[in-house]
Amino acid sequence: MTSGANKLLVGVNLKMYMDREQTLSWLDAAVTGLGSIDKDDVELFLLPALPLISQCLEKTFSSQLAIGAQNISEHDSGAFTGENSPQLLAQMGCEYALIGHHERRTLFGESDDVISQKIAASSRNNLIPIVCIGELSKEEKSAEAEVKTQIRGAVKDQKNLKKLVIAYEPTWAIGVEHPASAEHINTMCALIRSELEDMKIENFQILYGGSAGEGLFEMISQTCDGLFLGRRSHNPQTYVAIVQECISIKAAHL
Ligand code: PGA
Repeated sequence: MTSGANKLLVGVNLKMYMDREQTLSWLDAAVTGLGSIDKDDVELFLLPALPLISQCLEKTFSSQLAIGAQNISEHDSGAFTGENSPQLLAQMGCEYALIGHHERRTLFGESDDVISQKIAASSRNNLIPIVCIGELSKEEKSAEAEVKTQIRGAVKDQKNLKKLVIAYEPTWAIGVEHPASAEHINTMCALIRSELEDMKIENFQILYGGSAGEGLFEMISQTCDGLFLGRRSHNPQTYVAIVQECISIKAAHL
């Protein structure tokens, strides 16, 4: 099973790592570095911290980088103090919404039910949902079962899902030194692809995230459509190099 037909997608989640100045100078350097990259070769998105979304949208207005939110409310509007309206984010110019990141599930108690409602809210507001899926278990058979359950739970009742991004992130590979092995990533991404096809989801891309960085995509490009980057993208030159590497690998395998 190969991912050859899908467009390459590389995303960055800045979490809450960078302050205002660091974020904006990262963005300036990244946009300059990406300058010569052909839009036809790759789709790129950045998820900055929420208070900086407006400024990031201004800085990326005519660039390759789409902007998204790290989290959205399941509600469009109303009495939900402190929540991030998907409707407003879309009106501002955001294109993506991250849903169900491991940190949201564990630190903020997001349930499968809430995640499913957020996916619906995202599609309803024309934001592309990036849904994080990843097992707790390191044992292959339970990992497969966990991932299947998460996929089915997230996607089964969705209507009008125009486009879906799955970020496969085994929880034990987040924030550590090395990503999961290529063999493991390939097995799990092939499984995710076949589950989505089985559920008749037509327009999807699968990313791998979890300590992803340079040198990884080469080994997983047959099952993944791109990378979801965290800490390894904090140096903008490294980020641009990773994007360029992914483009060359994708081109070589077409
Ligand atoms: P990391 O983060 O690459 O820094 O491990 C990945 C993620 O949590 O999406």
